[in-house]
Amino acid sequence: MLETIQAAPPDAILGLTEAFKQDANPAKMNLGVGVYKDAAGKTPVLASVKEAEKRILADEESKSYLPINGSPAFGAATQELLFGPGHEVVVSGRAVTAQTPGGTGALRVAADFIAQLMPGARVWLSDPTWPNHPQVFGRAGVETRTYPYFDAAANGVAFAAMLAALREIPAGDVVLLHGCCHNPTGVDLSPDQWTQVADVIRAQGLLPLLDFAYQGFAEGLYEDAVGLRALAQPGRELLIASSYSKNFGLYNERVGAFTVVAPSADAAQAVLSQVKKCIRANYSNPPAHGGAIVTAILADPELRSQWEEEVATMRDRINAMRDLFVETLNEMGVEQDFSFIARQRGMFSFSGLTPDQVAALRDDYSIYVVGSGRINVAGMTEENMNYLCGAIADVLAR
Ligand code: LMR
Repeated sequence: MLETIQAAPPDAILGLTEAFKQDANPAKMNLGVGVYKDAAGKTPVLASVKEAEKRILADEESKSYLPINGSPAFGAATQELLFGPGHEVVVSGRAVTAQTPGGTGALRVAADFIAQLMPGARVWLSDPTWPNHPQVFGRAGVETRTYPYFDAAANGVAFAAMLAALREIPAGDVVLLHGCCHNPTGVDLSPDQWTQVADVIRAQGLLPLLDFAYQGFAEGLYEDAVGLRALAQPGRELLIASSYSKNFGLYNERVGAFTVVAPSADAAQAVLSQVKKCIRANYSNPPAHGGAIVTAILADPELRSQWEEEVATMRDRINAMRDLFVETLNEMGVEQDFSFIARQRGMFSFSGLTPDQVAALRDDYSIYVVGSGRINVAGMTEENMNYLCGAIADVLAR
Protein backbone atom coordinates (compact mmCIF):
# COMPACT_ATOMS: atom_id res chain seq x y z
CA MET A 1 0.00 0.00 0.00
CA LEU A 2 2.92 2.35 0.59
CA GLU A 3 4.85 1.53 -2.60
CA THR A 4 3.31 4.25 -4.76
CA ILE A 5 3.48 7.14 -2.31
CA GLN A 6 5.41 10.06 -3.78
CA ALA A 7 7.92 12.09 -1.76
CA ALA A 8 6.66 15.43 -0.48
CA PRO A 9 8.67 18.59 -1.20
CA PRO A 10 10.79 19.88 1.71
CA ASP A 11 9.15 22.37 4.09
CA ALA A 12 9.63 25.97 2.90
CA ILE A 13 11.31 26.94 6.20
CA LEU A 14 12.34 23.86 8.19
CA GLY A 15 13.51 22.18 4.96
CA LEU A 16 16.15 24.92 4.67
CA THR A 17 17.59 23.95 8.06
CA GLU A 18 17.86 20.35 6.84
CA ALA A 19 19.77 21.52 3.73
CA PHE A 20 21.89 23.90 5.85
CA LYS A 21 22.99 21.05 8.12
CA GLN A 22 24.21 19.08 5.09
CA ASP A 23 26.23 22.04 3.77
CA ALA A 24 30.00 21.62 4.36
CA ASN A 25 30.93 25.29 3.71
CA PRO A 26 32.37 26.68 6.99
CA ALA A 27 31.10 30.17 6.10
CA LYS A 28 27.48 28.97 5.77
CA MET A 29 24.69 31.09 7.29
CA ASN A 30 21.16 30.01 8.14
CA LEU A 31 18.93 33.08 7.81
CA GLY A 32 15.89 30.90 7.13
CA VAL A 33 14.13 29.62 10.22
CA GLY A 34 13.08 32.18 12.85
CA VAL A 35 15.52 31.28 15.59
CA TYR A 36 17.40 33.94 17.59
CA LYS A 37 21.19 33.89 17.65
CA ASP A 38 23.39 35.89 20.00
CA ALA A 39 26.47 37.90 19.02
CA ALA A 40 28.49 34.66 18.96
CA GLY A 41 26.02 33.03 16.57
CA LYS A 42 24.62 30.68 19.23
CA THR A 43 21.00 30.11 20.25
CA PRO A 44 21.43 30.32 24.02
CA VAL A 45 19.30 28.92 26.83
CA LEU A 46 18.22 32.06 28.71
CA ALA A 47 19.75 32.39 32.21
CA SER A 48 16.25 32.84 33.70
CA VAL A 49 15.21 29.57 32.01
CA LYS A 50 18.26 27.71 33.38
CA GLU A 51 17.47 28.91 36.90
CA ALA A 52 13.77 27.98 36.59
CA GLU A 53 14.76 24.52 35.34
CA LYS A 54 17.00 23.99 38.37
CA ARG A 55 14.13 24.82 40.68
CA ILE A 56 11.70 22.61 38.74
CA LEU A 57 14.07 19.64 38.85
CA ALA A 58 14.54 20.07 42.58
CA ASP A 59 10.83 20.43 43.36
CA GLU A 60 9.17 18.11 40.85
CA GLU A 61 7.30 15.28 42.55
CA SER A 62 5.42 13.59 39.73
CA LYS A 63 5.33 13.09 35.98
CA SER A 64 1.62 12.37 35.97
CA TYR A 65 -0.55 13.86 33.17
CA LEU A 66 -1.45 17.52 33.11
CA PRO A 67 -5.13 18.38 32.59
CA ILE A 68 -6.25 18.36 28.92
CA ASN A 69 -5.90 22.15 28.76
CA GLY A 70 -2.65 22.20 30.74
CA SER A 71 -1.74 23.66 34.08
CA PRO A 72 -4.19 26.25 35.51
CA ALA A 73 -1.23 28.33 36.78
CA PHE A 74 0.19 28.40 33.25
CA GLY A 75 -3.17 29.58 31.90
CA ALA A 76 -3.38 32.37 34.48
CA ALA A 77 0.22 33.48 33.85
CA THR A 78 -0.38 33.49 30.09
CA GLN A 79 -3.51 35.63 30.40
CA GLU A 80 -1.69 38.12 32.61
CA LEU A 81 1.17 38.41 30.12
CA LEU A 82 -1.19 38.80 27.15
CA PHE A 83 -3.72 41.25 28.54
CA GLY A 84 -1.84 42.87 31.43
CA PRO A 85 -2.84 42.73 35.10
CA GLY A 86 -6.49 43.33 36.00
CA HIS A 87 -7.78 43.37 32.41
CA GLU A 88 -11.55 43.18 32.01
CA VAL A 89 -11.54 39.92 30.00
CA VAL A 90 -9.57 38.18 32.75
CA VAL A 91 -11.42 39.65 35.74
CA SER A 92 -14.81 38.83 34.18
CA GLY A 93 -13.80 35.22 33.47
CA ARG A 94 -14.43 35.70 29.73
CA ALA A 95 -10.98 34.32 28.83
CA VAL A 96 -10.01 30.65 28.87
CA THR A 97 -6.58 29.28 27.99
CA ALA A 98 -5.24 25.91 26.91
CA GLN A 99 -1.52 25.14 27.10
CA THR A 100 -0.44 23.83 23.69
CA PRO A 101 2.65 22.32 22.05
CA GLY A 102 4.03 25.59 20.65
CA GLY A 103 2.27 28.36 18.78
CA THR A 104 1.76 25.97 15.86
CA GLY A 105 -0.06 23.59 18.22
CA ALA A 106 -2.26 26.50 19.31
CA LEU A 107 -3.06 27.29 15.68
CA ARG A 108 -3.96 23.67 15.00
CA VAL A 109 -6.27 23.61 18.03
CA ALA A 110 -7.83 26.83 16.73
CA ALA A 111 -8.22 25.23 13.29
CA ASP A 112 -9.87 22.09 14.72
CA PHE A 113 -12.13 24.26 16.87
CA ILE A 114 -13.21 26.32 13.84
CA ALA A 115 -13.75 23.18 11.74
CA GLN A 116 -15.86 21.54 14.43
CA LEU A 117 -17.79 24.43 15.94
CA MET A 118 -18.03 26.92 13.08
CA PRO A 119 -18.49 24.68 10.04
CA GLY A 120 -18.25 26.58 6.77
CA ALA A 121 -16.33 29.49 8.30
CA ARG A 122 -13.30 30.46 6.24
CA VAL A 123 -10.05 31.83 7.65
CA TRP A 124 -8.65 34.95 5.96
CA LEU A 125 -4.86 35.22 5.91
CA SER A 126 -2.69 38.24 5.16
CA ASP A 127 -0.97 38.28 1.77
CA PRO A 128 1.79 37.28 2.32
CA THR A 129 1.79 35.18 5.47
CA TRP A 130 3.75 32.42 7.23
CA PRO A 131 3.75 29.53 4.73
CA ASN A 132 2.55 27.08 7.39
CA HIS A 133 -0.71 29.00 7.99
CA PRO A 134 -2.57 27.66 4.94
CA GLN A 135 -1.29 24.15 5.67
CA VAL A 136 -2.40 24.13 9.30
CA PHE A 137 -5.93 25.26 8.44
CA GLY A 138 -6.10 23.20 5.24
CA ARG A 139 -5.18 19.97 7.05
CA ALA A 140 -7.95 20.66 9.57
CA GLY A 141 -10.41 21.03 6.68
CA VAL A 142 -10.79 24.81 6.97
CA GLU A 143 -10.82 26.82 3.76
CA THR A 144 -8.43 29.79 3.63
CA ARG A 145 -8.56 33.02 1.65
CA THR A 146 -6.26 36.05 1.62
CA TYR A 147 -6.61 39.78 2.18
CA PRO A 148 -4.05 42.35 0.91
CA TYR A 149 -1.47 43.33 3.50
CA PHE A 150 1.92 44.25 2.09
CA ASP A 151 2.64 47.18 -0.21
CA ALA A 152 5.95 46.14 -1.79
CA ALA A 153 6.57 49.49 -3.47
CA ALA A 154 6.21 51.42 -0.22
CA ASN A 155 7.57 48.64 2.02
CA GLY A 156 4.61 49.24 4.29
CA VAL A 157 1.09 48.04 5.00
CA ALA A 158 -1.35 48.31 2.08
CA PHE A 159 -3.78 49.69 4.62
CA ALA A 160 -6.55 51.09 2.41
CA ALA A 161 -6.67 47.86 0.39
CA MET A 162 -6.62 45.79 3.56
CA LEU A 163 -9.56 47.66 5.13
CA ALA A 164 -11.53 47.56 1.89
CA ALA A 165 -11.03 43.79 1.67
CA LEU A 166 -12.03 43.25 5.31
CA ARG A 167 -15.25 45.17 4.61
CA GLU A 168 -16.14 42.61 1.92
CA ILE A 169 -15.71 39.50 4.10
CA PRO A 170 -19.03 37.91 5.01
CA ALA A 171 -20.09 37.74 8.68
CA GLY A 172 -19.10 34.54 10.46
CA ASP A 173 -15.66 34.20 8.87
CA VAL A 174 -12.38 34.36 10.80
CA VAL A 175 -9.62 36.91 10.16
CA LEU A 176 -6.11 35.92 11.16
CA LEU A 177 -3.90 38.86 12.16
CA HIS A 178 -0.24 38.82 13.21
CA GLY A 179 -0.06 40.34 16.70
CA CYS A 180 3.31 41.99 16.04
CA CYS A 181 6.50 41.41 14.03
CA HIS A 182 4.53 40.33 10.96
CA ASN A 183 5.94 37.12 9.51
CA PRO A 184 7.37 37.34 6.83
CA THR A 185 7.40 41.12 6.19
CA GLY A 186 8.39 42.71 9.53
CA VAL A 187 5.79 45.41 8.77
CA ASP A 188 3.15 46.03 11.46
CA LEU A 189 -0.05 48.05 11.83
CA SER A 190 0.19 51.29 13.84
CA PRO A 191 -1.90 51.59 17.04
CA ASP A 192 -4.42 53.74 15.19
CA GLN A 193 -4.64 51.23 12.34
CA TRP A 194 -5.25 48.44 14.88
CA THR A 195 -8.22 50.36 16.26
CA GLN A 196 -9.65 50.79 12.77
CA VAL A 197 -9.16 47.11 11.93
CA ALA A 198 -10.76 46.05 15.23
CA ASP A 199 -13.76 48.28 14.49
CA VAL A 200 -14.24 46.90 10.96
CA ILE A 201 -13.98 43.34 12.26
CA ARG A 202 -16.60 44.12 14.87
CA ALA A 203 -18.91 45.90 12.40
CA GLN A 204 -18.66 43.05 9.88
CA GLY A 205 -19.40 40.34 12.46
CA LEU A 206 -16.03 38.63 11.93
CA LEU A 207 -14.04 36.65 14.50
CA PRO A 208 -10.40 37.78 14.88
CA LEU A 209 -7.68 35.18 15.42
CA LEU A 210 -4.46 36.76 16.61
CA ASP A 211 -1.25 34.86 15.92
CA PHE A 212 1.00 36.29 18.62
CA ALA A 213 4.36 34.53 18.37
CA TYR A 214 6.79 37.40 18.95
CA GLN A 215 5.55 39.34 21.99
CA GLY A 216 8.48 41.44 23.21
CA PHE A 217 10.47 41.41 19.97
CA ALA A 218 9.15 44.63 18.42
CA GLU A 219 9.04 47.35 21.10
CA GLY A 220 8.30 45.69 24.43
CA LEU A 221 6.09 43.09 26.08
CA TYR A 222 3.33 45.59 26.84
CA GLU A 223 3.75 47.75 23.74
CA ASP A 224 3.58 44.75 21.40
CA ALA A 225 0.11 43.82 22.72
CA VAL A 226 -1.45 47.06 21.45
CA GLY A 227 -3.33 45.19 18.71
CA LEU A 228 -4.46 42.51 21.12
CA ARG A 229 -5.87 45.14 23.48
CA ALA A 230 -7.64 46.87 20.59
CA LEU A 231 -9.35 43.58 19.72
CA ALA A 232 -10.12 42.60 23.33
CA GLN A 233 -12.54 45.46 24.01
CA PRO A 234 -15.56 44.90 26.29
CA GLY A 235 -18.14 42.69 24.61
CA ARG A 236 -15.85 41.55 21.79
CA GLU A 237 -14.77 37.99 20.99
CA LEU A 238 -11.25 36.93 20.13
CA LEU A 239 -9.07 33.87 19.55
CA ILE A 240 -5.33 34.05 20.33
CA ALA A 241 -2.57 31.61 19.42
CA SER A 242 0.53 32.63 21.37
CA SER A 243 4.01 31.16 21.54
CA TYR A 244 6.86 31.02 24.04
CA SER A 245 9.33 29.65 21.49
CA LYS A 246 10.91 33.00 20.74
CA ASN A 247 10.53 35.23 23.80
CA PHE A 248 11.62 32.45 26.21
CA GLY A 249 13.90 30.75 23.67
CA LEU A 250 11.97 27.52 24.35
CA TYR A 251 11.89 26.41 20.70
CA ASN A 252 12.30 22.68 21.26
CA GLU A 253 10.17 22.50 24.40
CA ARG A 254 7.08 23.29 22.29
CA VAL A 255 5.17 25.62 24.55
CA GLY A 256 2.39 27.94 23.49
CA ALA A 257 -1.20 28.73 24.33
CA PHE A 258 -4.64 28.92 22.77
CA THR A 259 -6.73 31.59 24.48
CA VAL A 260 -10.37 32.32 23.73
CA VAL A 261 -12.19 35.48 24.78
CA ALA A 262 -15.94 34.71 24.82
CA PRO A 263 -18.85 37.11 25.46
CA SER A 264 -19.46 35.84 29.00
CA ALA A 265 -17.88 33.62 31.65
CA ASP A 266 -20.52 30.93 30.99
CA ALA A 267 -19.88 31.01 27.25
CA ALA A 268 -16.14 30.81 27.94
CA GLN A 269 -16.59 27.61 29.96
CA ALA A 270 -18.68 26.03 27.19
CA VAL A 271 -15.98 27.00 24.66
CA LEU A 272 -13.29 25.52 26.89
CA SER A 273 -15.14 22.21 27.06
CA GLN A 274 -15.14 22.07 23.24
CA VAL A 275 -11.49 23.12 23.01
CA LYS A 276 -10.67 20.23 25.35
CA LYS A 277 -12.47 17.81 23.03
CA CYS A 278 -10.35 19.04 20.11
CA ILE A 279 -7.15 18.57 22.14
CA ARG A 280 -8.10 15.14 23.52
CA ALA A 281 -8.56 13.76 20.00
CA ASN A 282 -5.25 15.28 18.89
CA TYR A 283 -2.36 15.09 21.40
CA SER A 284 -4.50 14.31 24.50
CA ASN A 285 -2.80 16.76 26.87
CA PRO A 286 0.27 18.98 26.63
CA PRO A 287 3.89 18.27 27.61
CA ALA A 288 4.68 19.76 31.02
CA HIS A 289 8.27 20.95 31.12
CA GLY A 290 8.19 24.07 28.92
CA GLY A 291 4.97 25.31 30.50
CA ALA A 292 6.43 24.79 33.97
CA ILE A 293 9.43 26.96 33.04
CA VAL A 294 7.23 29.78 31.77
CA THR A 295 4.99 29.61 34.84
CA ALA A 296 7.94 29.58 37.24
CA ILE A 297 9.52 32.63 35.60
CA LEU A 298 6.37 34.69 35.28
CA ALA A 299 5.34 33.97 38.90
CA ASP A 300 8.67 34.91 40.50
CA PRO A 301 9.40 38.68 40.53
CA GLU A 302 13.16 38.20 40.43
CA LEU A 303 13.19 35.65 37.62
CA ARG A 304 10.61 37.67 35.75
CA SER A 305 12.66 40.85 35.76
CA GLN A 306 15.74 38.87 34.70
CA TRP A 307 13.72 37.38 31.84
CA GLU A 308 12.35 40.80 30.81
CA GLU A 309 15.93 42.05 30.58
CA GLU A 310 16.89 39.06 28.48
CA VAL A 311 14.00 39.74 26.09
CA ALA A 312 15.14 43.38 25.84
CA THR A 313 18.69 42.23 25.07
CA MET A 314 17.46 40.01 22.23
CA ARG A 315 15.29 42.81 20.84
CA ASP A 316 18.10 45.37 21.03
CA ARG A 317 20.56 43.04 19.33
CA ILE A 318 18.17 42.41 16.44
CA ASN A 319 17.62 46.14 16.00
CA ALA A 320 21.37 46.78 16.09
CA MET A 321 21.79 44.16 13.33
CA ARG A 322 19.12 45.89 11.24
CA ASP A 323 21.09 49.15 11.40
CA LEU A 324 24.43 47.48 10.78
CA PHE A 325 23.02 45.55 7.79
CA VAL A 326 21.77 48.74 6.12
CA GLU A 327 25.01 50.56 6.94
CA THR A 328 27.23 47.76 5.62
CA LEU A 329 25.28 47.47 2.35
CA ASN A 330 25.72 51.23 1.90
CA GLU A 331 29.43 51.01 2.59
CA MET A 332 29.72 48.28 -0.02
CA GLY A 333 28.24 50.63 -2.58
CA VAL A 334 24.91 48.84 -3.00
CA GLU A 335 22.72 51.40 -4.72
CA GLN A 336 19.36 49.80 -4.02
CA ASP A 337 17.71 51.43 -1.01
CA PHE A 338 17.52 48.98 1.91
CA SER A 339 16.84 51.59 4.59
CA PHE A 340 13.35 50.11 5.10
CA ILE A 341 14.99 47.11 6.79
CA ALA A 342 15.95 49.33 9.73
CA ARG A 343 12.28 50.35 10.11
CA GLN A 344 10.87 46.81 10.10
CA ARG A 345 10.35 44.95 13.38
CA GLY A 346 10.98 41.55 14.86
CA MET A 347 13.09 38.73 13.52
CA PHE A 348 12.12 39.00 9.88
CA SER A 349 12.51 41.32 6.95
CA PHE A 350 11.18 41.00 3.48
CA SER A 351 14.37 41.85 1.61
CA GLY A 352 12.90 42.15 -1.87
CA LEU A 353 15.48 39.61 -3.15
CA THR A 354 14.11 37.63 -6.10
CA PRO A 355 13.89 33.81 -6.13
CA ASP A 356 16.93 33.75 -8.47
CA GLN A 357 18.94 35.93 -6.11
CA VAL A 358 17.89 33.74 -3.15
CA ALA A 359 19.05 30.65 -5.11
CA ALA A 360 22.38 32.33 -5.96
CA LEU A 361 23.00 33.19 -2.29
CA ARG A 362 22.45 29.57 -1.40
CA ASP A 363 24.35 27.97 -4.29
CA ASP A 364 27.34 30.31 -4.34
CA TYR A 365 27.62 31.47 -0.72
CA SER A 366 25.79 28.84 1.38
CA ILE A 367 23.54 31.61 2.71
CA TYR A 368 20.07 30.21 3.35
CA VAL A 369 17.13 32.61 2.99
CA VAL A 370 13.44 31.68 2.61
CA GLY A 371 12.36 31.57 -1.06
CA SER A 372 10.08 34.58 -0.61
CA GLY A 373 13.16 36.70 0.19
CA ARG A 374 12.41 36.67 3.93
CA ILE A 375 15.61 37.12 5.93
CA ASN A 376 15.98 36.23 9.60
CA VAL A 377 17.76 39.33 10.89
CA ALA A 378 18.28 37.59 14.24
CA GLY A 379 20.73 35.24 12.50
CA MET A 380 23.09 38.11 11.56
CA THR A 381 26.17 38.87 13.68
CA GLU A 382 28.91 41.50 13.50
CA GLU A 383 31.22 38.72 12.45
CA ASN A 384 29.20 37.44 9.48
CA MET A 385 27.87 40.83 8.33
CA ASN A 386 30.60 41.59 5.78
CA TYR A 387 30.31 38.13 4.24
CA LEU A 388 26.54 38.47 4.01
CA CYS A 389 26.50 41.98 2.59
CA GLY A 390 29.30 41.16 0.13
CA ALA A 391 27.28 38.20 -1.12
CA ILE A 392 24.12 40.29 -1.45
CA ALA A 393 26.04 43.03 -3.28
CA ASP A 394 27.33 40.40 -5.70
CA VAL A 395 23.98 38.77 -6.47
CA LEU A 396 22.30 42.18 -6.86
CA ALA A 397 24.94 43.23 -9.39
CA ARG A 398 24.47 40.16 -11.60
C1 LMR B 1 9.55 30.74 11.23
O1 LMR B 1 8.65 31.30 10.60
O2 LMR B 1 10.71 30.62 10.82
C2 LMR B 1 9.25 30.18 12.59
O3 LMR B 1 7.94 30.47 12.95
C3 LMR B 1 9.59 28.75 12.71
C4 LMR B 1 8.66 27.86 11.95
O4 LMR B 1 8.11 26.95 12.57
O5 LMR B 1 8.47 28.06 10.74
